[in-house]
Amino acid sequence: MAIVSSGSPAPRGRPSREASPSDLPSPPRLVDPAPGPEEAAAGRLTDGVPASREDGLRPRRLADYIGQGELKQVLAIAVEATRARQEALDHVLLYGPPGLGKTTMALVLAEELGVRCRITSAPALERPRDIVGLLVNLQPHELLFIDEIHRLNRVAEEILYPAMEDFRLDLTVGKGTTARTRSLDLPPFTLVGATTRAGSLSSPLRDRFGLIQRLEFYGLDDLQAIVERAAGLLQIALEPDAALEVARRCRGTPRIANRLLRRVRDVASVRGHGRIGAALVAEALSLHRVDDRGLDASDRRLLTLMLEGYGGGPVGLDTLAAGLGEDSATLEAVVEPYLLQLGFLQRTPRGRMVTPAGRSHLGWPTGAAA
Ligand code: ADE
Repeated sequence: MAIVSSGSPAPRGRPSREASPSDLPSPPRLVDPAPGPEEAAAGRLTDGVPASREDGLRPRRLADYIGQGELKQVLAIAVEATRARQEALDHVLLYGPPGLGKTTMALVLAEELGVRCRITSAPALERPRDIVGLLVNLQPHELLFIDEIHRLNRVAEEILYPAMEDFRLDLTVGKGTTARTRSLDLPPFTLVGATTRAGSLSSPLRDRFGLIQRLEFYGLDDLQAIVERAAGLLQIALEPDAALEVARRCRGTPRIANRLLRRVRDVASVRGHGRIGAALVAEALSLHRVDDRGLDASDRRLLTLMLEGYGGGPVGLDTLAAGLGEDSATLEAVVEPYLLQLGFLQRTPRGRMVTPAGRSHLGWPTGAAA
């Protein structure tokens, strides 16, 4: 049976019938559905979550989630109101650089609401049946998390429009002259979309989210607290100044902080250190070419190319991407945001420029571009 989204908007509240879930595909196997030991022990209400190293360190409740104060405030109110009304939470779009906690926040929301969270990412939803399979298997009020939602193809997007707006699936069954449109009611659910590129979302899709929230880079105090919490969970004896040193070098990003912490732990255990101090963190992270402001080899390559090849700019993103053998979308979404945040890089209408602070960090004279 060919299943294609009709995408045709039907009148709101139209009774839906005919196609039954048994006609429809079961959900694709997204990821290894077996929970990791920590998740299983915790009885976490998640499903299809990739077991990752991060899992044991993720906060589970809003109260444990450090930082992102405004986001937490907005979502706490929405969760409380939703629970009181016994409805599904409005659809949520989370955007911002990678590693800031978009997936974690989706899992926290599910936990706060006491529902399951199904996790997938747009590249896994290649065929219409992939998204249809997920939607028809949702239970009332459950969360569906779609990572990299800006990468959804058009057909999947069009299936989502009536699903998000009216909890309805519009399907075209059959082909050619025998093709018919059928509708199926879906339970009320919440779509949580995550993207590093909010500007790449089509406006019809963006407009269907009731809550649109940006995640910001974390400040030093919050990062230090996150590192101390992770060190506690991993049973690493870390001095407060060592946690601060990791915080300084993690690009404002908890995922990187946790990764760096593990590298520091490796060095400490090989060298036989018991308690870890700031000097050991500095030494361990220099070994991994992470400098005292958190720049890594990719950041330095970018700034060096701009300085050596283009006098510090202005120079276009595509030119830089070609010079580095990178893809410009990755450069823009992953490498640039932290350099912009540090004030080492500037976007101008004529292209990217290294700022005096960026020049100075790389040991270049800070006068006019050479
Ligand atoms: N681990 C990763 N991100 C975190 C956060 N925002 N709060 C607490 N622990 C974290």
